Amino acid sequence: MKASVIANKDFTIAKIDDRVYGAFLEHLGRAVYEGIYEPDHPTADKDGMRGDVAKLVKDLNVPVVRYPGGNFVSAYNWEDGIGPREERPTRLDLAWHTSESNKVGIHEFADWCATVGTEMMLAVNLGSRGVDDARNFLEYVNHPGGSYWSDLRIKNGRKEPWNVKLWCLGNEMDGPWQVGHKDADEYGKLAANTARAMRMFDNKLELVVCGSSHMDMPTFPDWERIVLEHTYDHVDHISLHMYFANRDDNTPNYLGLSEKLDRYIETVAATIKQVKAKKKSKKDIYISFDEWNVWYHSNKKDREILDGNGGWPHAPGLLEDIYNFEDVLMVGLILNTFIRRSDVVKIACIAQLVNVIAPIMTEKGGPAWAQTIYYPYYFASVYGRGTALDLVTSSPDYETTHSPKTAYVDVSGVRNDEDGTLTFFLVNRHPTESIDSEVSLQGFDNASVIDHQVMTHADLKAVNTARKQDEVKPRAGSGAKVADGRLTVSLPPYSYQMIRLK
Ligand code: AHR
Repeated sequence: MKASVIANKDFTIAKIDDRVYGAFLEHLGRAVYEGIYEPDHPTADKDGMRGDVAKLVKDLNVPVVRYPGGNFVSAYNWEDGIGPREERPTRLDLAWHTSESNKVGIHEFADWCATVGTEMMLAVNLGSRGVDDARNFLEYVNHPGGSYWSDLRIKNGRKEPWNVKLWCLGNEMDGPWQVGHKDADEYGKLAANTARAMRMFDNKLELVVCGSSHMDMPTFPDWERIVLEHTYDHVDHISLHMYFANRDDNTPNYLGLSEKLDRYIETVAATIKQVKAKKKSKKDIYISFDEWNVWYHSNKKDREILDGNGGWPHAPGLLEDIYNFEDVLMVGLILNTFIRRSDVVKIACIAQLVNVIAPIMTEKGGPAWAQTIYYPYYFASVYGRGTALDLVTSSPDYETTHSPKTAYVDVSGVRNDEDGTLTFFLVNRHPTESIDSEVSLQGFDNASVIDHQVMTHADLKAVNTARKQDEVKPRAGSGAKVADGRLTVSLPPYSYQMIRLK
């Protein structure tokens, strides 16, 4: 089988916003406690943050981390997480039926972000709270001093404001599972009022309004239209969430899900344009895909934890998906989709970062390690910065329930003008056939291969564990070469590759 691609230096989609390689950390399960924070761990720093986890996060070069939820935020009182730790209250978290000790709050999270070199993306509670809470939290976080909340921050040990620019107006407010769930009109009005108040404090804030929790919500896509009709002039992004699953163990169909993702983005982009036209606005709104990942491996265990004990455990092992090799391909396909839709998707957050549906896992008192999906996320985040190329790809295809034509070869290309590199991320969805691929390089004179990484595995279900951390990992590829202005490479069946040229 053969596939061909044309990559022309001047045929571009958009400058990729670095923040499409963002992540998400919620007070859920062991994400915070035993994840980033474990004061008794041998690698813990003076604040109790695990050094081994911080190192794995730092290596990913994560540009932004969304916090503190998720469903958790919709009944969260942020003031519970400030002041002396021993005086902080333990609260019941309704979203995950657990106890929240509040040992980690905004100060600890902000310090951790500085340690790992990332920016904060904060969510305000528009479930059980509203405008008042949002303005107070904003004042606490961003005001230099001389007011009640900013002086309290200073008293609590942080003199300088954090100047957080990116704020989410609630979380998944379309979902009946959300504390304080609202219909589109109710939420749209509340979000507009909250945005207005926040912008009275600082009109340069970047605000994200809630879109749909997933594409199969009964309210999709009217939710987006109605919410945007209320908020268009006051926000910058609309959020989308999507989780990917292979419940019926049908890998070809599973890998076709990125076609559905593409359609989801396209539909919301069209809705944005519709509202823009209706409002006769000159302004553009973008997509913040601030929750995405594979999520299904842990469903059964979670039901047992949640239904089983009826108690309120602190940091139980919820949503601990153990990812396999085929998830590497899925994550590679999702990231390729974001690169190709970088004209409208400006922020995206892998959900989540540590232990909870995460690329990084930890054992209490033990090691931290990279799950299989760590690697495609790592390659895209570290090497996928720059301008997305508008590639012309022809590949044999197959039919899935998501699309009549799903290409076997899925590819994205990124031109980085700072370091002069050209990077391709390629996935072969074919179960049995290698595909000889040829990329015609136009305007990339004298380019040659400087790095080639390949991920394959004989067992689609192979996983990394604490004891076998390197079962699924990339290896240096061979056989990719440039001659006569053409890059040629053979893509093994079910494989992920990154090829960099300079
Ligand atoms: O990421 C896990 C959960 O998924 C989040 O709390 C929620 O926003 C979504 O439903």
